[in-house]
Amino acid sequence: MSGVYFHIPFCRQLCHYCAFHKSISLQAKEDMLECLKLELKLRKDYLGDNSLTTIYFGGGTPSVYQANEIESLIEEVAKYFIIEPNAEITLEANPDDLTEKYLQELAKTRVNRLSVGIQSFHDEDLILMNRRHTGKEAFDAIRRAQAFGFDNISVDQIYGVPGLTMEKWKEKLELVFDLNVQHISSYHLMFDPNTIFTKKLEKGQLVEMDEEDSFEQFNYLIDVARKHGFVHYEISNFSKEGYISEHNSSYWKQKKYLGIGPSAHSYNLEQREWNIANNYKYITAIRNNESFSEKEDLSEYDRFNDFVLTSLRTYWGMDLELVRTDFGEKLYQHCILKTKKYLSSEHIRQEKNSIILNDKGVFVSNDIMSDFFWVEEE
Ligand SMILES: C[S@@+](CC[C@H](N)C(=O)[O-])C[C@H]1O[C@@H](n2cnc3c(N)ncnc32)[C@H](O)[C@@H]1O
Ligand code: SF4
Repeated sequence: MSGVYFHIPFCRQLCHYCAFHKSISLQAKEDMLECLKLELKLRKDYLGDNSLTTIYFGGGTPSVYQANEIESLIEEVAKYFIIEPNAEITLEANPDDLTEKYLQELAKTRVNRLSVGIQSFHDEDLILMNRRHTGKEAFDAIRRAQAFGFDNISVDQIYGVPGLTMEKWKEKLELVFDLNVQHISSYHLMFDPNTIFTKKLEKGQLVEMDEEDSFEQFNYLIDVARKHGFVHYEISNFSKEGYISEHNSSYWKQKKYLGIGPSAHSYNLEQREWNIANNYKYITAIRNNESFSEKEDLSEYDRFNDFVLTSLRTYWGMDLELVRTDFGEKLYQHCILKTKKYLSSEHIRQEKNSIILNDKGVFVSNDIMSDFFWVEEE
């Protein structure tokens, strides 16, 4: 059971916090569509398995393509793979693209899950982020999608944004829960290199939120999401019963996935592969049958570190017995040592064989996971 991911590398406007690969020139849209199909054909045997449980259109902004163009990509996938009857087929969409006309067409495709970037419902935050929509437009877009029958909707939002007071955060979450969506992804704002936000931070035009304040926002979110019946199943992800994202889960269930498009990553349990993050070079390489990706073989330690990274992120945690059977006594003993340290600091708890991050641990999860990594001596 594997997944196919399409990276759609176009956006209509650049959000000032975002470092994902994309271009705001949509000129190459047609050429790109053709090349995505060509890459799929070229790499159809990569997974060594032709049964798919997930297809994910991410970006960038997949909704720059018309619904029939998205369906033509699904059609292409169906030529080489068996798409399982209950397969989760997700489209990341920006609220400003979800017009009545677009949704009407999209409802006719096999897309059965929408992931909509609302980020905030406050217009001053959206202006700061350079989003193309207002808070009300984002809210209405979700309502419209529901009216067109989409009943598996996820919303993306960002907290820890300069100027986001606790009062505003509470108001925003109330609106999110009013929408009655099935899934929420909530990301702490990251100051990624080469973004306008980071440049502004360096010039002193933006001030990073105090860690204590963003921790309070995160804790409030965890609390209120639980009260509304959401399971906090991964650091940034919350779902209603039965709506855990299959696509997200494939990363920590160590499922194979094939990534198509510029900057897309692929994984087949033994190797990682990543495509060139440049639209022009990608199209040229695909058309001329030249190399468009790099790959690395994964060592035993790389696989262990991946296992730490993916399992500790989830509410199922990391199974220590599995560490012993899959990675041997040395790495098991290493984990036992780290486990003692974080049990005593109450960052983790132990349930049977598994260790799971507590709320306190989730907030500093990157530090804890790095500490569990096995680093080979030079
Ligand atoms: C790849 S983006 C695609 C979403 C879609 N294009 C949109 O903007 O609506 C997925 C999500 O990543 C999150 N994201 C991107 N950059 C981020 C950053 N620097 N810090 C926190 N979250 C970020 C946003 O919430 C965004 O919706
Ligand atoms: S957040 Fe979405 S719309 Fe904004 S630049 Fe990133 S991918 Fe594009």
